Amino acid sequence: MRINTAYEGALGDYFADNATDGPYNAHTDRPAMFALAGDVTGLRVLDIGCGAGHYVTELRARGAAEVVGVEGSATLLRHARDRIGDDAAVTLYHHDLEEPLGFLPDDSFDLVVMALVHHHLEARRQLLAELHRGLRPGGILLVSTVHPTADWVWHGGSYFDEDRVETRFGDSGTTNSHRRMTMQTFLGELLDAGFALERFVEPRATEAARQVDEVRYLKTLRTPFFVAVRMRKI
Ligand SMILES: C[S@@+](CC[C@H](N)C(=O)[O-])C[C@H]1O[C@@H](n2cnc3c(N)ncnc32)[C@H](O)[C@@H]1O
Repeated sequence: MRINTAYEGALGDYFADNATDGPYNAHTDRPAMFALAGDVTGLRVLDIGCGAGHYVTELRARGAAEVVGVEGSATLLRHARDRIGDDAAVTLYHHDLEEPLGFLPDDSFDLVVMALVHHHLEARRQLLAELHRGLRPGGILLVSTVHPTADWVWHGGSYFDEDRVETRFGDSGTTNSHRRMTMQTFLGELLDAGFALERFVEPRATEAARQVDEVRYLKTLRTPFFVAVRMRKI
């Protein structure tokens, strides 16, 4: 059965709001990913699963020359368009990431950002092949995902279980599913796709999160939530 994991309706609205200043997206994942990105000035960037446009706007504010966003949720694309406004250097596509990205040119992006999307997908190897094709030689792929240990702590069973699990989103009354996987599977699929690992981080919240939500801030200091990697196309 085909699973639709795009964040539509109430889940999309909840995510768009929460990702703006929430401890996990705004103050744990994004700072770690931008640290891995380094200077993005003048780069042509592809944002896979661009959500409500938080990465797109920050990439442009940091000097990216052009950003192409791909997103499966109509709800989140509406939020992204509102957030981004009128910017001729940004192009957004409504597209299911379980399908090939035939509209992407070959060898053209300097940087691909895929933040907290990868774990939702089944066609990960197909997508990684497409991203490899779209990157210029030596281009960079940044991926963040749920830390395998976090999934093991939250969902129990064996660390080596690679099943789909359902997660509740805060007090939104909505859920979504993702595939938990071992670190070996996560990194193995990236290496198999023709990328070399340059950096690996297990992000903790920045000090700014303490002002927003001290309980969750402290939680990220003792429990792994995400991993983030910088890979180079070889
Ligand atoms: C946790 S959010 C991350 C959004 C954005 N990258 C960020 O960090 O702000 C996961 C995103 O993946 C999108 N997504 C999930 N499954 C998808 C699919 N099959 N095709 C396209 N987008 C999908 C969701 O709609 C959502 O925008």
